[in-house]
Amino acid sequence: MSHDLPGTDRSIQIAPSVLPADFARLGEECQALEKAGVDRIQWDVMDGVFVPNLTFGPDVIASTRDLVSVPFEAHLMVVEPDKLMGRYVEAGCQIVIVHAEACLHLHRTLGAIREMGASPAVALNPATPASSVRHVLDLVDLILVMTVNPGFGGQAYIPTMEPKIAKIRRWVVEGGYDVDIEVDGGISPATAAGAAAAGANVLVAGSALFRDPEGLSHATATIRDIGRAAATAS
Ligand code: DX5
Repeated sequence: MSHDLPGTDRSIQIAPSVLPADFARLGEECQALEKAGVDRIQWDVMDGVFVPNLTFGPDVIASTRDLVSVPFEAHLMVVEPDKLMGRYVEAGCQIVIVHAEACLHLHRTLGAIREMGASPAVALNPATPASSVRHVLDLVDLILVMTVNPGFGGQAYIPTMEPKIAKIRRWVVEGGYDVDIEVDGGISPATAAGAAAAGANVLVAGSALFRDPEGLSHATATIRDIGRAAATAS
């Protein structure tokens, strides 16, 4: 299956999750990630209700914003994204990812994110079908297919998500949409090829980056190279 999109460079991008970072040194960790060559930074925002964990408020993100120049994406794992998303845009997040499962009026929410001047994106939990985003592909810049159940890092990649990735990629290509497909959860040198071959071009990794004994730069380059080779071969 060709992932060549008309006039769109669907190059493999690396988006680290800061979940495994040292929260006592978040600013320095963001600078180290930028120095390692990542393409953007993902903030895993959790409200303790949508997922059983609690993480970053907008002020925490804002405190690191001016330390780096890479784009920030806010992955809102929250039950009421409409109430919070404006705060994360103000904090400096260029991309706002809401969960389809948390949006009563997803079409309206995505339009509101665009109105704020941010890039709208929607995430799907593993059990949520691809059809949930079928009618909003014209509104988004990115679809996030979760490859773990959200809430914690260090979980095992769910390979049965690959057909879902491929289906959404097919819709994007057939429709001529300029939409990235992102995966998040268990992405490592061992799993990046399967996700990229299925059609993902933005790879979120937390543990695999921060736990690489050879460091962030090595992990970033390794996962990107594996993803690029798999996407080219598929
Ligand atoms: C799930 C989290 C994780 C994290 C990355 O809610 O969002 O997916 O970002 O986790 P690992 O450590 O699997 O890369």
